[in-house]
Amino acid sequence: MGGTNPYIEKSDTTLPTTSFTITFIAPDQTTTKVQVDPKKIPYGHTGLPGSVLDIAMGNGVDVEHACGGVCACSTCHVYVKQGLDSCNDGTDDEFDQLDEAPAITLSSRLACQCVPDGSMDLVVEIPAVNKNLVKEAH
Ligand code: FES
Repeated sequence: MGGTNPYIEKSDTTLPTTSFTITFIAPDQTTTKVQVDPKKIPYGHTGLPGSVLDIAMGNGVDVEHACGGVCACSTCHVYVKQGLDSCNDGTDDEFDQLDEAPAITLSSRLACQCVPDGSMDLVVEIPAVNKNLVKEAH
């Protein structure tokens, strides 16, 4: 599964034209610095093109995404600790889903809906409570 969800409000995004970095902080506090190449966007077919999830998956960074990146779960919840101002505004549909995530803060976003424009470097923390309950049930 993946791609976009035709049943939700379209997100207004601006894709980057210059390279920037995203530093991912995993739940065990290990960091992975990704140099984003605008020419490679979209990296795949999961989440909005150029989203934090798209970039993570295209660079081997593990972020849960139970619904396949179509804004229909909250397992891709992340904290954008730096560079949030360079990202698209979240839609009402995104914030409705985020309400289901534990421990949300003002820096919370759904990785599949959060698209940076490349004007700032990002620091993105993947919360320890970000678990795919569907996967864990098996
Ligand atoms: Fe389901 Fe992002 S992967 S909302």
